[in-house]
Amino acid sequence: EFVLYHDQYVRKEDAAIDMEDRGYNFGDGIYEVVFVYSGKSFAMNEHFERFISSAAKLEMQLPFDAPRFVELTEGLIEKNSLRDGMVYVQMTRGASPRNHLYERDMKCLVTGFTREMKPPEQLHQDGIRVYLTDDIRWLRCDIKSLNLLGNTMAKRQAADHNCQEAILHRDGTCTEGSSSNLYIVKDSVLQTHPANNLILNGITRQAILKIAHEKGIEVKEEPFTVKDLAAADEVFISSTTMEVTPVIQAAGQLDAEYQIGSITRSLQNGLKKKIY
Ligand code: PDD
Repeated sequence: EFVLYHDQYVRKEDAAIDMEDRGYNFGDGIYEVVFVYSGKSFAMNEHFERFISSAAKLEMQLPFDAPRFVELTEGLIEKNSLRDGMVYVQMTRGASPRNHLYERDMKCLVTGFTREMKPPEQLHQDGIRVYLTDDIRWLRCDIKSLNLLGNTMAKRQAADHNCQEAILHRDGTCTEGSSSNLYIVKDSVLQTHPANNLILNGITRQAILKIAHEKGIEVKEEPFTVKDLAAADEVFISSTTMEVTPVIQAAGQLDAEYQIGSITRSLQNGLKKKIY
C-alpha cells in the first residue's frame, strides 16, 4: 500500500511526520475526501477547486496547481489499484518550532492515502436515524479544515444514541450534519442551508441542487429551523461517502419519524446516474 508524500508515492511505513508539524500540533491544515467508483473518481476537479479555496482562506502556500493535485491523486488511486473506495488528501502548513503565529511562506506538506470501501447501499435504501444536537463549532465551517472536534464530539454522541449521523443547529437554526449536508422537503419544495460561513458547501450538495433544477424541483437555499425540521415531509443528508441518504427518524433534541419520499428518491437516483 502506497501513500502520497509531497509529490512521491512511498510505502506507508516509510512516511514520517515531524513532531512539530502544524497539522499535528494545531490542526493547521485542510483536506478533501473523493470517492472512487469502479476505478473512476467522482467530481475530482470540484474537490480540488474547493481544496484550493480552503488553502487561500488560510493563507497557505500551494506547492501544486489544481491539475497537478488531480494528477497526483489519480496516480495514487492507480498505484494502489483502488477500484471502489475513497481517497483522502490533506495539506498541513508544515513543520516549524511550535508557535501559534504562522508565517505565510511556510512549505506545506501534502499527504494522502486510499481506503477500499463500498457505498452504503443498505442505508441508501432503508435510511438512517439522526441525532439533533447543538452546533458548537467555530464560525468558519466553510473551510474544510483538519479541526473537527465539534464534528467528532457530535458524531460520538449520535452513535451513543444509536444514530448514524448527528445533525446540528445553532440557536434553533439547522445548519448541517457532523460530516454531511442536511435537507428538508416541505410541500414539494427542497430546502437546505445557504452556502455561507456556517456550513461546508458540499460537492455532493452542489451536484444535488443542480439535479433538482434539472428535474424542475423548487429549491430554497435558506436557513430553516428545528420547528421546520419537525414538520418536514422528507429529510435527507448528503456527502461524498453517504451520497443521498434518507432520514427516517430523529432523536436527541427532536423526536420525529419520517417517510422516505419521492423527492428524496428522485434526487438519490439522479445522483447515482451522474456517478455511474
Ligand atoms: N465530509 N459538511 C461537513 C461538515 C462535512 O464534513 C462533509 C463531508 C460535508 C459534505 O461534503 P461533500 O459532499 O463535499 O463530501 C458537509 C467528508 C466526507 C469527511 O469528512 O469524511
